[in-house]
Amino acid sequence: MAKEPQVLIPGTEGLVLGCDYNPEQWDPAVWEEDVRLMTEAGVSLVAINVFGWAQIQPAADRFDFSGLDRIIELLHEAGIGINLGTGTASPPPWLSARHPEILPVSADGLRAWPGGRQAYCPSSPVFREAAARLVTEVATRYGSHPAVRLWHVSNELGCHNALCYCDVSAEAFRGWLRAKYETLDALNAAWGTAFWSQRYGAWEEILPPRRTLSSGNPGQALDFARFSSDEVLECFLVEERILRELSTIPVTTNFMATAHIRTQDYWQWAPHMDLIANDHYLDHRLPVPHQELALAGDITRGLAGGRPWLLMEQSTGAVNWQPRNLSKAPGELLRNSLTHVARGADGICFFQWRASVQGTEKFHSALLPHAGTESRTWREVLELSRALQSIKEVVGTEVVADVALIFSWEAWWATDLDSHPSEDVRYLDQVHALYRALWEAGVTVDIVAPGADLSGYRLAVVPSLYLVRDAEAAAVSAFVEAGGTAVVTFFSGIVDENDRVRTGGYPGAFRDLLGVRADEFFPLAAGGRVALDDGSTGRLWTESIEPTGSEVVASFTDGPLPGRPAITRNRFGGGTAWYLGTALDGEHLRVLLTEIAAEAGVTVSTTPGVERVLRRGEHGDFHFIINHTATDHTVALDGYELVTAQPVAESLTIPAGAVRVVRAAESEK
Ligand code: GAL
Repeated sequence: MAKEPQVLIPGTEGLVLGCDYNPEQWDPAVWEEDVRLMTEAGVSLVAINVFGWAQIQPAADRFDFSGLDRIIELLHEAGIGINLGTGTASPPPWLSARHPEILPVSADGLRAWPGGRQAYCPSSPVFREAAARLVTEVATRYGSHPAVRLWHVSNELGCHNALCYCDVSAEAFRGWLRAKYETLDALNAAWGTAFWSQRYGAWEEILPPRRTLSSGNPGQALDFARFSSDEVLECFLVEERILRELSTIPVTTNFMATAHIRTQDYWQWAPHMDLIANDHYLDHRLPVPHQELALAGDITRGLAGGRPWLLMEQSTGAVNWQPRNLSKAPGELLRNSLTHVARGADGICFFQWRASVQGTEKFHSALLPHAGTESRTWREVLELSRALQSIKEVVGTEVVADVALIFSWEAWWATDLDSHPSEDVRYLDQVHALYRALWEAGVTVDIVAPGADLSGYRLAVVPSLYLVRDAEAAAVSAFVEAGGTAVVTFFSGIVDENDRVRTGGYPGAFRDLLGVRADEFFPLAAGGRVALDDGSTGRLWTESIEPTGSEVVASFTDGPLPGRPAITRNRFGGGTAWYLGTALDGEHLRVLLTEIAAEAGVTVSTTPGVERVLRRGEHGDFHFIINHTATDHTVALDGYELVTAQPVAESLTIPAGAVRVVRAAESEK
């Protein structure tokens, strides 16, 4: 007998539909209607008390849980699970008024004022103590409440306040450095302080990388980024320890992978979570926002070690914080949501339930818009709810991928430091470029940490991994040696973990694997383009590549290095390692990666704009097909289509803009 699929959150069933709910913004008369409509929409998990601090602790020595008690009972009576915020997301005015020293300070010494949110220094012992006191109260009161399914620690930790340069942070930074280096000699060596007379003679001399006249010390900047991520993680851990002592309910917090926020090294955070939760908002500043949505889903699944995860927030339509807040087209909400499910989400939650009428988020979309239930949004929410019901048997299944992309927050920090060969080489752009090419080739990608075991994959992709440790580079070589295929792109392998250049020729750590050696970089001028003899073109970068055993696949025909190799391929052990010495233009990159992937035995597709992902489990193989195009698309498949509840014989047409989920015939019970 087949086992029941494992649900993501104990006490829930099927695919979760959920939302943030801020009842404190509403008259209690509205609450009952809210709960009734939540039931109508099939909402099964509601995050409350996320920004509740000022409500439940109106003064330093006073707690008032009456409102929260009532909300919890209303939700409980309706059978709705609770994702209970610890309430520490934003300190209330009384705390910063009493303790202005908790307010964070920017790199040029400016202290932020209260009045927004998250205005605290992550290292502040005063803040941490106040947060711990609140969490203790909340966990004591609700830690075994039958409606509480999940602890939602704080909110998007480090979203606004990740980097604080105040004196308290400076002291904490010194403590972190002492623990890391033990001796000043070790720190001076790691930071290369022989340069510009920067040598430290006492720990007290060391500061965070506050604004300097000239460029600062890169080692200091890199360690400060690591320290800052650790400090914010410590804010999570302070709460987590209390919750584990007082409650057995699973603990998590909502990550912000990926988009533009890069301050947290979530590879370090992930092991502390009972389940991985992510927030995702379409970024309309990107050329194709839904490609980044897919990447965010894949990063989140990577953080979850391949297991299902929870989408803790997305929007039904527009947000309020982009320069122009675009709404979603009809059907886009379903496509976005089921793309997250395709990529491993077993729950889809939203910010927020009811659109605010006050505050800066009053023009942010919600499940229940200002217009009420007589609205397109509400109808699409009900449609999503039905779709989640009809595909619920995918719960617990895992995404199948033959390709790994190595992604590193540390490399992101290091690559984007100043004083580099070209300010146009930005880490995330390079990740997006390679991911986009694979997305367009219909290839599902697992996102893995540097050093991960790659043995289950056919192809490993390494975008501009400027900072890499010896062992992390060796993991890529071992994979290729054992028969795998790797694609490494320019500005990889350049420095070690201390941002110290690997000498003897570029690309340092990957020279042997790639069979190339370059003695000089030749980045292009702003907006520059370079042509290759295979008809492709590149941007940003060239370098003087000398093959040392590799085969030249394409050479530059113009630019600073006409006639010199641009793309090489090297046999290494039983496998093949490709090097791309320029940023190939999109279409050329897509064509090349499609060929490389196909050669490596990866299934590729040539229908641009149609996304296909396979989730597999004991209950079957589930093919997700998301048609982002304006034309119908037909695929060859046999089985049963779950969204429309139709048998599929041989082929299925996915209407323009639609999503279908097919349980494959061979896996039917
Ligand atoms: C998130 C945050 C929510 C809400 C939302 C609006 O970053 O966690 O509280 O502000 O953005 O898009």
